Amino acid sequence: MSIDDFERYPLTFGPSPVHPLERLSDHLGGARIWAKREDCNSGLAFGGNKTRKLEYLVPDALRQGADTLVTIGGVQSNHTRQVAAVAARLGLKAVLVQESWVDWPDAVNDKVGNILLSRIMGAQVRLVEAEFGIGYKDSWTEAIEGVRAAGGTPYAIPAGASDHPLGGLGFAHWADEVLRQERELGVFFDTVVVCSVTGSTQAGMIAGFAAQDRPRRVLGIDASARPAETRAQVEKIARATAELIGLGRDLRDDEITLLQGWAGDLYGVPVQSTVDAIRLTGALEGVVLDPVYEGKSMAGLIDLVRDGDIPRDANVLYAHLGGQPALNAYSGVFRQSVSGV
Ligand SMILES: Cc1ncc(COP(=O)(O)O)c(C=O)c1O
Repeated sequence: MSIDDFERYPLTFGPSPVHPLERLSDHLGGARIWAKREDCNSGLAFGGNKTRKLEYLVPDALRQGADTLVTIGGVQSNHTRQVAAVAARLGLKAVLVQESWVDWPDAVNDKVGNILLSRIMGAQVRLVEAEFGIGYKDSWTEAIEGVRAAGGTPYAIPAGASDHPLGGLGFAHWADEVLRQERELGVFFDTVVVCSVTGSTQAGMIAGFAAQDRPRRVLGIDASARPAETRAQVEKIARATAELIGLGRDLRDDEITLLQGWAGDLYGVPVQSTVDAIRLTGALEGVVLDPVYEGKSMAGLIDLVRDGDIPRDANVLYAHLGGQPALNAYSGVFRQSVSGV
Protein backbone atom coordinates (compact mmCIF):
# COMPACT_ATOMS: atom_id res chain seq x y z
CA MET A 1 0.00 0.00 0.00
CA SER A 2 1.10 3.56 -0.62
CA ILE A 3 -0.65 6.90 -0.42
CA ASP A 4 -1.41 6.63 -4.15
CA ASP A 5 -3.64 3.61 -3.49
CA PHE A 6 -6.19 5.71 -1.60
CA GLU A 7 -9.00 7.42 -3.43
CA ARG A 8 -8.81 11.22 -3.26
CA TYR A 9 -11.76 13.46 -4.10
CA PRO A 10 -10.24 16.70 -5.42
CA LEU A 11 -11.35 19.72 -3.40
CA THR A 12 -8.19 21.80 -3.80
CA PHE A 13 -6.87 23.71 -6.81
CA GLY A 14 -3.93 21.28 -7.01
CA PRO A 15 -0.54 21.66 -5.34
CA SER A 16 -0.63 24.60 -2.92
CA PRO A 17 1.78 27.45 -3.72
CA VAL A 18 5.30 27.52 -2.24
CA HIS A 19 7.19 30.82 -2.12
CA PRO A 20 10.07 32.41 -0.21
CA LEU A 21 9.50 34.88 2.64
CA GLU A 22 12.54 36.97 1.74
CA ARG A 23 11.99 40.04 3.89
CA LEU A 24 11.21 37.95 6.97
CA SER A 25 14.33 35.84 6.34
CA ASP A 26 16.48 38.98 6.00
CA HIS A 27 14.93 40.53 9.09
CA LEU A 28 15.77 37.47 11.19
CA GLY A 29 19.31 37.45 9.75
CA GLY A 30 19.40 33.83 8.75
CA ALA A 31 17.66 30.66 7.71
CA ARG A 32 15.90 30.89 4.34
CA ILE A 33 12.21 30.75 5.17
CA TRP A 34 9.58 29.66 2.67
CA ALA A 35 5.84 29.23 3.04
CA LYS A 36 3.52 26.58 1.61
CA ARG A 37 0.07 28.11 1.46
CA GLU A 38 -2.87 25.99 2.56
CA ASP A 39 -4.73 29.26 3.18
CA CYS A 40 -5.17 29.60 -0.58
CA ASN A 41 -5.34 25.94 -1.57
CA SER A 42 -9.01 25.85 -2.62
CA GLY A 43 -11.91 27.85 -3.94
CA LEU A 44 -14.13 26.38 -1.21
CA ALA A 45 -14.66 29.04 1.48
CA PHE A 46 -10.99 30.09 1.75
CA GLY A 47 -9.67 26.51 2.06
CA GLY A 48 -7.21 25.50 4.74
CA ASN A 49 -5.64 22.33 6.11
CA LYS A 50 -8.97 20.51 6.68
CA THR A 51 -9.89 20.77 2.99
CA ARG A 52 -6.90 18.55 2.22
CA LYS A 53 -7.79 16.04 4.90
CA LEU A 54 -11.38 15.92 3.65
CA GLU A 55 -10.18 14.94 0.16
CA TYR A 56 -9.57 11.48 1.65
CA LEU A 57 -12.69 11.30 3.85
CA VAL A 58 -15.17 12.28 1.15
CA PRO A 59 -14.86 9.06 -0.94
CA ASP A 60 -15.55 7.09 2.26
CA ALA A 61 -18.61 9.24 3.04
CA LEU A 62 -19.95 8.84 -0.50
CA ARG A 63 -19.35 5.06 -0.43
CA GLN A 64 -21.41 4.87 2.76
CA GLY A 65 -24.29 6.76 1.13
CA ALA A 66 -24.11 9.59 3.66
CA ASP A 67 -26.42 12.56 3.21
CA THR A 68 -25.20 14.64 6.16
CA LEU A 69 -21.69 15.49 7.39
CA VAL A 70 -21.66 15.90 11.18
CA THR A 71 -18.71 17.49 12.89
CA ILE A 72 -17.56 19.50 15.89
CA GLY A 73 -15.27 22.38 16.79
CA GLY A 74 -15.09 25.65 18.67
CA VAL A 75 -17.33 28.61 17.83
CA GLN A 76 -14.66 30.03 15.47
CA SER A 77 -13.60 26.62 14.14
CA ASN A 78 -11.93 26.68 10.72
CA HIS A 79 -12.56 22.96 10.47
CA THR A 80 -16.37 23.16 10.74
CA ARG A 81 -16.38 25.97 8.14
CA GLN A 82 -14.45 23.77 5.71
CA VAL A 83 -16.82 20.85 6.35
CA ALA A 84 -19.76 23.18 5.61
CA ALA A 85 -18.14 24.21 2.32
CA VAL A 86 -17.40 20.64 1.29
CA ALA A 87 -20.96 19.55 2.14
CA ALA A 88 -22.31 22.39 -0.01
CA ARG A 89 -20.01 21.39 -2.87
CA LEU A 90 -21.19 17.78 -2.69
CA GLY A 91 -24.89 18.60 -2.29
CA LEU A 92 -24.93 17.14 1.24
CA LYS A 93 -26.21 18.64 4.50
CA ALA A 94 -23.91 19.71 7.31
CA VAL A 95 -24.59 19.68 11.05
CA LEU A 96 -21.95 21.59 12.98
CA VAL A 97 -21.61 21.39 16.76
CA GLN A 98 -19.86 24.60 17.79
CA GLU A 99 -18.69 24.50 21.40
CA SER A 100 -17.70 27.46 23.54
CA TRP A 101 -14.07 26.24 23.74
CA VAL A 102 -12.65 29.72 23.99
CA ASP A 103 -13.73 32.20 26.62
CA TRP A 104 -13.22 35.15 24.32
CA PRO A 105 -14.98 38.42 25.19
CA ASP A 106 -15.49 39.81 21.68
CA ALA A 107 -19.21 40.57 21.34
CA VAL A 108 -19.34 39.32 17.74
CA ASN A 109 -17.43 36.09 18.38
CA ASP A 110 -20.42 33.87 17.54
CA LYS A 111 -21.58 36.02 14.63
CA VAL A 112 -18.63 36.80 12.34
CA GLY A 113 -15.77 34.99 10.64
CA ASN A 114 -15.97 31.22 10.35
CA ILE A 115 -19.40 30.79 11.91
CA LEU A 116 -20.87 33.45 9.62
CA LEU A 117 -19.44 31.65 6.58
CA SER A 118 -20.86 28.30 7.73
CA ARG A 119 -24.30 29.84 8.15
CA ILE A 120 -24.10 31.41 4.68
CA MET A 121 -23.26 28.01 3.19
CA GLY A 122 -26.43 26.52 4.64
CA ALA A 123 -25.02 24.44 7.48
CA GLN A 124 -27.07 23.76 10.57
CA VAL A 125 -25.05 25.40 13.35
CA ARG A 126 -25.61 24.29 16.95
CA LEU A 127 -24.06 26.39 19.69
CA VAL A 128 -23.16 24.30 22.76
CA GLU A 129 -21.68 25.39 26.10
CA ALA A 130 -18.65 23.13 26.69
CA GLU A 131 -14.94 23.33 27.43
CA PHE A 132 -12.09 22.82 24.96
CA GLY A 133 -11.14 19.20 24.28
CA ILE A 134 -9.79 17.37 21.24
CA GLY A 135 -11.34 13.99 22.20
CA TYR A 136 -14.82 12.61 21.61
CA LYS A 137 -17.69 14.73 22.91
CA ASP A 138 -21.27 13.86 23.91
CA SER A 139 -22.65 16.80 21.93
CA TRP A 140 -21.17 15.32 18.74
CA THR A 141 -22.57 11.84 19.44
CA GLU A 142 -26.00 13.40 20.11
CA ALA A 143 -25.86 15.29 16.81
CA ILE A 144 -25.02 12.07 14.93
CA GLU A 145 -27.87 10.22 16.65
CA GLY A 146 -30.19 13.14 15.90
CA VAL A 147 -29.54 12.85 12.15
CA ARG A 148 -30.21 9.08 12.32
CA ALA A 149 -33.41 9.57 14.33
CA ALA A 150 -34.66 11.96 11.65
CA GLY A 151 -34.09 9.29 8.98
CA GLY A 152 -30.83 10.70 7.62
CA THR A 153 -27.48 8.98 7.03
CA PRO A 154 -24.78 10.83 8.94
CA TYR A 155 -21.06 10.70 8.26
CA ALA A 156 -19.21 11.50 11.48
CA ILE A 157 -16.09 13.64 11.25
CA PRO A 158 -14.23 14.17 14.54
CA ALA A 159 -12.67 17.49 15.61
CA GLY A 160 -10.13 18.60 13.04
CA ALA A 161 -10.85 15.45 10.98
CA SER A 162 -8.02 14.01 13.03
CA ASP A 163 -9.01 10.99 15.10
CA HIS A 164 -10.36 9.20 12.04
CA PRO A 165 -8.72 6.22 10.31
CA LEU A 166 -8.14 8.32 7.15
CA GLY A 167 -7.36 11.61 8.95
CA GLY A 168 -3.59 11.53 8.38
CA LEU A 169 -3.69 10.82 4.63
CA GLY A 170 -4.19 14.41 3.48
CA PHE A 171 -0.86 15.52 4.85
CA ALA A 172 0.96 12.33 3.94
CA HIS A 173 0.00 13.36 0.40
CA TRP A 174 1.22 16.90 1.19
CA ALA A 175 4.66 15.45 1.97
CA ASP A 176 4.84 13.91 -1.52
CA GLU A 177 3.72 17.20 -3.01
CA VAL A 178 6.56 18.98 -1.20
CA LEU A 179 9.06 16.53 -2.69
CA ARG A 180 7.81 17.23 -6.22
CA GLN A 181 7.88 21.00 -5.64
CA GLU A 182 11.41 20.79 -4.26
CA ARG A 183 12.56 19.14 -7.48
CA GLU A 184 10.96 21.92 -9.52
CA LEU A 185 12.42 24.68 -7.32
CA GLY A 186 15.85 23.11 -6.79
CA VAL A 187 15.68 23.38 -3.02
CA PHE A 188 15.51 20.93 -0.09
CA PHE A 189 13.57 21.90 3.00
CA ASP A 190 15.52 20.38 5.88
CA THR A 191 13.10 21.83 8.45
CA VAL A 192 9.30 22.01 8.36
CA VAL A 193 7.41 24.11 10.92
CA VAL A 194 3.75 23.26 11.51
CA CYS A 195 1.09 24.22 14.02
CA SER A 196 -0.46 21.30 15.93
CA VAL A 197 -3.69 20.97 17.93
CA THR A 198 -5.81 17.96 16.97
CA GLY A 199 -2.70 16.41 15.46
CA SER A 200 -3.39 14.85 12.06
CA THR A 201 -1.75 17.62 10.04
CA GLN A 202 1.64 17.08 11.66
CA ALA A 203 1.06 13.32 11.98
CA GLY A 204 0.34 12.94 8.27
CA MET A 205 3.46 14.94 7.39
CA ILE A 206 5.62 12.79 9.66
CA ALA A 207 4.32 9.57 8.10
CA GLY A 208 4.64 10.96 4.57
CA PHE A 209 8.17 12.30 5.01
CA ALA A 210 9.28 9.09 6.76
CA ALA A 211 8.66 7.26 3.50
CA GLN A 212 11.16 9.53 1.68
CA ASP A 213 14.92 8.99 1.39
CA ARG A 214 16.26 12.20 2.87
CA PRO A 215 15.56 12.87 6.57
CA ARG A 216 14.27 16.27 7.66
CA ARG A 217 12.99 17.82 10.88
CA VAL A 218 9.24 18.30 11.26
CA LEU A 219 8.84 20.74 14.15
CA GLY A 220 5.32 20.79 15.52
CA ILE A 221 4.42 23.90 17.48
CA ASP A 222 1.71 23.29 20.04
CA ALA A 223 -1.25 25.68 19.99
CA SER A 224 -3.55 23.57 22.18
CA ALA A 225 -1.92 24.61 25.47
CA ARG A 226 -2.38 20.92 26.35
CA PRO A 227 0.79 19.58 24.75
CA ALA A 228 0.68 16.14 26.39
CA GLU A 229 -2.71 15.40 24.79
CA THR A 230 -1.72 16.83 21.42
CA ARG A 231 1.59 14.94 21.41
CA ALA A 232 -0.18 11.66 22.24
CA GLN A 233 -2.62 12.26 19.41
CA VAL A 234 0.16 13.16 16.92
CA GLU A 235 2.02 9.97 17.87
CA LYS A 236 -1.04 7.77 17.55
CA ILE A 237 -2.12 9.19 14.19
CA ALA A 238 1.43 9.28 12.77
CA ARG A 239 1.94 5.58 13.60
CA ALA A 240 -1.49 4.57 12.26
CA THR A 241 -0.96 6.58 9.06
CA ALA A 242 2.54 5.16 8.57
CA GLU A 243 1.07 1.67 8.74
CA LEU A 244 -1.80 2.57 6.42
CA ILE A 245 0.54 3.88 3.70
CA GLY A 246 2.82 0.86 4.05
CA LEU A 247 5.89 2.50 5.57
CA GLY A 248 7.08 -0.95 6.61
CA ARG A 249 8.79 0.14 9.83
CA ASP A 250 7.89 1.70 13.16
CA LEU A 251 8.32 5.43 13.49
CA ARG A 252 11.11 6.35 15.89
CA ASP A 253 10.28 8.61 18.84
CA ASP A 254 12.79 11.17 17.54
CA GLU A 255 10.71 11.57 14.38
CA ILE A 256 7.88 13.04 16.48
CA THR A 257 8.63 16.51 17.85
CA LEU A 258 6.07 18.79 19.46
CA LEU A 259 7.52 21.99 20.89
CA GLN A 260 5.73 24.04 23.50
CA GLY A 261 6.17 27.58 24.72
CA TRP A 262 4.11 29.67 22.30
CA ALA A 263 0.51 28.66 23.06
CA GLY A 264 0.16 30.69 26.25
CA ASP A 265 -2.06 29.18 28.91
CA LEU A 266 -5.19 28.72 26.84
CA TYR A 267 -6.22 27.41 23.45
CA GLY A 268 -7.68 30.19 21.33
CA VAL A 269 -6.26 33.10 23.30
CA PRO A 270 -3.36 34.97 21.68
CA VAL A 271 -0.39 36.06 23.79
CA GLN A 272 2.09 38.87 23.12
CA SER A 273 4.38 36.68 20.99
CA THR A 274 1.37 35.68 18.84
CA VAL A 275 0.40 39.28 18.17
CA ASP A 276 4.04 40.28 17.51
CA ALA A 277 4.43 37.41 15.01
CA ILE A 278 1.20 38.31 13.23
CA ARG A 279 2.20 41.99 12.95
CA LEU A 280 5.74 41.17 11.83
CA THR A 281 4.67 38.73 9.11
CA GLY A 282 1.93 41.08 7.97
CA ALA A 283 4.17 44.15 7.86
CA LEU A 284 7.17 42.45 6.20
CA GLU A 285 5.46 40.06 3.82
CA GLY A 286 1.81 41.04 3.42
CA VAL A 287 1.03 37.52 4.63
CA VAL A 288 -1.81 37.31 7.13
CA LEU A 289 -1.84 34.87 10.06
CA ASP A 290 -4.55 34.11 12.61
CA PRO A 291 -4.36 34.51 16.41
CA VAL A 292 -5.38 30.91 17.32
CA TYR A 293 -2.98 28.79 15.27
CA GLU A 294 -0.63 30.29 12.72
CA GLY A 295 0.37 33.31 14.79
CA LYS A 296 1.52 30.89 17.47
CA SER A 297 3.49 28.62 15.12
CA MET A 298 5.11 31.64 13.46
CA ALA A 299 6.08 32.96 16.92
CA GLY A 300 7.78 29.61 17.47
CA LEU A 301 9.58 29.75 14.12
CA ILE A 302 10.83 33.30 14.80
CA ASP A 303 12.26 32.37 18.21
CA LEU A 304 13.83 29.14 16.94
CA VAL A 305 15.61 31.05 14.15
CA ARG A 306 16.65 33.92 16.43
CA ASP A 307 18.01 31.54 19.07
CA GLY A 308 19.89 29.45 16.50
CA ASP A 309 17.91 26.25 17.19
CA ILE A 310 17.15 26.43 13.49
CA PRO A 311 20.61 27.06 11.97
CA ARG A 312 21.33 30.05 9.75
CA ASP A 313 21.95 27.88 6.69
CA ALA A 314 18.67 25.95 7.08
CA ASN A 315 15.92 25.94 4.46
CA VAL A 316 12.70 26.16 6.43
CA LEU A 317 9.23 25.41 5.10
CA TYR A 318 6.52 27.12 7.12
CA ALA A 319 3.19 25.32 6.63
CA HIS A 320 0.60 28.09 6.50
CA LEU A 321 -2.55 26.14 7.36
CA GLY A 322 -5.13 28.91 6.87
CA GLY A 323 -7.46 30.23 9.56
CA GLN A 324 -7.68 33.94 8.77
CA PRO A 325 -11.51 34.20 8.96
CA ALA A 326 -11.25 33.93 12.77
CA LEU A 327 -9.41 37.29 12.79
CA ASN A 328 -12.80 38.99 12.57
CA ALA A 329 -13.54 37.90 16.13
CA TYR A 330 -10.21 39.27 17.41
CA SER A 331 -10.32 42.84 16.12
CA GLY A 332 -9.84 44.31 19.61
CA VAL A 333 -6.34 42.82 19.79
CA PHE A 334 -5.22 44.90 16.79
CA ARG A 335 -6.95 48.23 17.49
CA GLN A 336 -3.68 50.13 17.76
CA SER A 337 -1.85 50.43 14.45
CA VAL A 338 1.68 49.75 15.69
CA SER A 339 3.76 48.14 12.93
CA GLY A 340 5.82 45.88 15.22
CA VAL A 341 8.83 45.96 12.86
C1 LIG B 1 -5.50 27.38 10.75
C2 LIG B 1 -5.19 26.13 11.49
N1 LIG B 1 -3.90 25.86 11.77
C3 LIG B 1 -3.54 24.75 12.44
C4 LIG B 1 -4.48 23.82 12.88
C5 LIG B 1 -4.02 22.62 13.61
O1 LIG B 1 -4.12 21.46 12.83
P1 LIG B 1 -4.42 20.07 13.50
O2 LIG B 1 -5.69 20.22 14.26
O3 LIG B 1 -4.48 19.08 12.39
O4 LIG B 1 -3.31 19.77 14.47
C6 LIG B 1 -5.84 24.08 12.62
C7 LIG B 1 -6.92 23.20 13.12
O5 LIG B 1 -6.97 22.72 14.22
C8 LIG B 1 -6.20 25.25 11.91
O6 LIG B 1 -7.49 25.53 11.61
